[in-house]
Amino acid sequence: MNRVMDKICLVTGAASGLGEACARLLAQEGGTVILTDINDIQGHKTTQEIKDTGANAIFIKHDVTNEDDWKSVFSTILETYGKIDVLINNAGGGTYNDVETLSLQDWKNIIALNMDSTFLGTQMAIKSMKDTGGGSIINMSSVGGLVGSPNLVAYSAAKAGVKLFSKSVALHCGAHNYNIRVNTVHPGLIKTVSGMEMASKATGLSVEDAETAFAAMHPIGRIGKPIEIANMVLFLASDESSFATGGEFVVDGGYTAQ
Ligand SMILES: NC(=O)c1ccc[n+]([C@@H]2O[C@H](COP(=O)([O-])OP(=O)(O)OC[C@H]3O[C@@H](n4cnc5c(N)ncnc54)[C@H](O)[C@@H]3O)[C@@H](O)[C@H]2O)c1
Repeated sequence: MNRVMDKICLVTGAASGLGEACARLLAQEGGTVILTDINDIQGHKTTQEIKDTGANAIFIKHDVTNEDDWKSVFSTILETYGKIDVLINNAGGGTYNDVETLSLQDWKNIIALNMDSTFLGTQMAIKSMKDTGGGSIINMSSVGGLVGSPNLVAYSAAKAGVKLFSKSVALHCGAHNYNIRVNTVHPGLIKTVSGMEMASKATGLSVEDAETAFAAMHPIGRIGKPIEIANMVLFLASDESSFATGGEFVVDGGYTAQ
């Protein structure tokens, strides 16, 4: 259907999980996709599989917490394609701790992985997009950024930060008539390796039993699939979402409706 035909799309954390699903779907819908990740072996593998479908894709090794890596990713994109249309700040994650057991270093690492990354990517994308007609920035938050979780204390703080950072940036871009839209996506539990590890730690159950336990917490009666998040990201990346900015797009099987 070519819903993002000819758009230049950067997806971070794209070697696996939700980022991989987003990269595959954007490529399928006509986008040129730049996949980045710290895991270069898996990143190259995923990228090659996308290229084998006839789509345009490249892989760049990238630690999203590192400013120099961001500069190098953007200079490669701008030298190769001349612009960026879509940025998906997807790479993120957390550790399973409450406020009494979390170390300061783990707190800083989680804030860096989820928030420094989103700040750096968003700032660089705006610098380029404002001169090339605009674009769409999609920042991956979580239901953990909407409601508290006693044992995901730093992750919840970081993902809530991503949400209000994104709204503030959306207002800034609107005020300057940049034609840059900024939105967040808030998944419930989605079946990825790290999603299931987190679920297993949270319940003290095996991955299989944790899936059953978490299915019961989602009113729809199951946990989510990566493609169900990628479908929302595709909508926000495409011009179909032209009136959406500063929004929080919840895709959680009803988890936060309760
Ligand atoms: N899976 C879920 O249930 C769920 C729910 C809500 C939100 N999320 C969010 O969605 C995003 C993706 O989650 P996922 O489940 O696909 O995770 P994942 O662990 O399966 O994939 C994350 C990818 O990011 C990469 N990565 C990790 N640190 C990086 C860094 N410093 N720089 C660049 N790449 C890095 C990893 O190598 C991996 O390929 C995260 O922001 C996560 O917080 C996931």
